[in-house]
Amino acid sequence: MNDTPSQWLRERTPEDIECQQVLRQLNRLPRHVAIIMDGNGRWAHARNLPRVAGHREGIESVRDIVKASAELGIGYLTLYAFSTENWRRPEAEVNALMRLLEYYLKAEVDELDRNNVRINAIGKVMALPKRVQRVLKRAIEQTANNTGLVLTLALSYSGRWDILRALQLIALDVRRGKLSPEDISEELFASYLSTGSLPEPDLLIRTSGELRISNFLLWEIAYTELYSTETLWPDFRRKEYYAALADYARRERRFGMTSDQLHDNQRASSYRDYLKELFDTLIQRR
Ligand code: FPP
Repeated sequence: MNDTPSQWLRERTPEDIECQQVLRQLNRLPRHVAIIMDGNGRWAHARNLPRVAGHREGIESVRDIVKASAELGIGYLTLYAFSTENWRRPEAEVNALMRLLEYYLKAEVDELDRNNVRINAIGKVMALPKRVQRVLKRAIEQTANNTGLVLTLALSYSGRWDILRALQLIALDVRRGKLSPEDISEELFASYLSTGSLPEPDLLIRTSGELRISNFLLWEIAYTELYSTETLWPDFRRKEYYAALADYARRERRFGMTSDQLHDNQRASSYRDYLKELFDTLIQRR
């Protein structure tokens, strides 16, 4: 197990420490954040650069958001890095994305490990080039005993693919006599998904202003709060992330109940409003 004090925590600026303190005081940080990282191509296009330049800059956002999540003590971060549909992109772009993924994992694994991050992957990993599979496997193994942020990369992933795969696995277990159809509950079904070891996401962020789920975590987001921002992924850095987290902290998650059932603690929610205002002021000052 890696118990060294986080280098990231030690490197924070005073402004960052202040923002993170206020966010923590809001007392409602999500346990699991999922992100659809969209807008890399448009970011590059606006600068007359090739699309891959947008993906490259997008890696800088990945670095910053992973760090900020770990610093804040968020338990789980799941990034939609490559969908099953993304295989339809031009071969050169697919190859570039695969090379970037390999580069990211190789370049970052030691630092992630030092900062107690555990790397995880969901999706049809076998479809990835062998080189990527090898570095991914190594990164997962190297960080397997870490106890901090669980960073899940969705790679060659789609929600429907995962649901079908879970159904097939359940059907096999029924055929083998390990399960009977009556055993199939929501909890059991969820445990067969590739996200079976993760809690459901509390917050799903999508950058670049699109209002679509794009086949991401279809089963898991039944009660997830959605947050959309116009900001393109390469420009989405911790300041924007903090704003999304503060917005989430103010929302009321009812899980099908009425507001009255939840509102026995009105004072706590006014306090959250007060802190949110304070937080917004801090963000504007930066
Ligand atoms: C969507 O933007 C983004 C992707 C398909 C890939 C995301 C990949 C990265 C950020 C880099 C690698 C990731 C990791 C985790 C190392 P788009 O190209 O669809 O943008 P557009 O809609 O503007 O064209």
